[in-house]
Amino acid sequence: MIGVALLGCGTVGSGVIKLLQKNSEIIDKRIGESIVIKKVLERDTEKCQLLEIKDELITQDIQEILDDQDIAIVVELIGGIEPAFSYIMAALARGKHVVTANKDLIAIKGKDIFDRAKEKGVDFYFEASVAGGIPIVYPMKQSLAANQIQEVIGILNGTTNYILSKMSQEGRDFNEVLAEAQQLGYAESDPSADVDGLDAARKIAILSSIAFNSRVTLDDVYVEGIRSITAADIQYAKELGYVIKLLAIAKENSQQKIEVRVHPAFLPKTHPMAGVNDVFNAVFLHGDAVGEIMHYGRGAGQMPTASAVFGDIIEIARNILHHSNARIGCSCYENKAIMDIKE
Ligand code: HSE
Repeated sequence: MIGVALLGCGTVGSGVIKLLQKNSEIIDKRIGESIVIKKVLERDTEKCQLLEIKDELITQDIQEILDDQDIAIVVELIGGIEPAFSYIMAALARGKHVVTANKDLIAIKGKDIFDRAKEKGVDFYFEASVAGGIPIVYPMKQSLAANQIQEVIGILNGTTNYILSKMSQEGRDFNEVLAEAQQLGYAESDPSADVDGLDAARKIAILSSIAFNSRVTLDDVYVEGIRSITAADIQYAKELGYVIKLLAIAKENSQQKIEVRVHPAFLPKTHPMAGVNDVFNAVFLHGDAVGEIMHYGRGAGQMPTASAVFGDIIEIARNILHHSNARIGCSCYENKAIMDIKE
């Protein structure tokens, strides 16, 4: 048995529980051992009851989780910086492996967390923090690890991609489509993190840290959102054979410095990313051995994100069972200089 604690039982936490309830047989077969949810840290007990989680598993006290010797993996799905950061640091200090979907935290506090995980010899995995259900963090660290990555281009924010797609398909203005996206629940009532590019900036900071073995934080990213894009801009782009996308770009420039930026960009209609529409995300990258590859899928949503979180749980479970420890998040810092491209 591999014991797991969930911190938070909101949208993604509920998805993780539903996925285990639905696919536990196949998951356990693939690992060769059972994954068991031992504790759920959640104040809103009604949420847990809806998922038929037994009352004795629900707690409001992190200490109970930290002290439980049967819990090997802590899954942080609270979001934000605090208390998520303190809980993660405490869990790592107690020798527990940690999984998170928390991009804000990694983009800001990643180094502290990786250092603590390395020091304690435990795993810290964060696939779901970038591009939801699309496998990209682990493939970049493992399957593509022999490559020198020259460039990473992402459509990493579903809300803005939905808005730009609708503006393009229907010739409508930004504010009108934003209001519709809010009504449909795609955009938050305060949409600034999405439409001003911050959400994509956090995600490309994480991907570029991995791609270039360097410490890239949110502060290193040039960020420009899509508020100023008009229906006329999109029409003009169309006439010239382009689409407008909010791109997150990380590349090594001719001075061997890394440039990391998020901004609306003209993309030729023939580019593989030009057909990525609606709420979908994609990551296109170029490695010296693999050449060009593209990963495409759902960048948000309960079950796609739960899929990525669970993939990390399974990988850690395998590491535990095979007494190995990949610690794939730990070795990628302080390599290359970052270009200052802010205005
Ligand atoms: N708000 C994000 C998006 C989803 O629109 O892509 C979570 O990262």
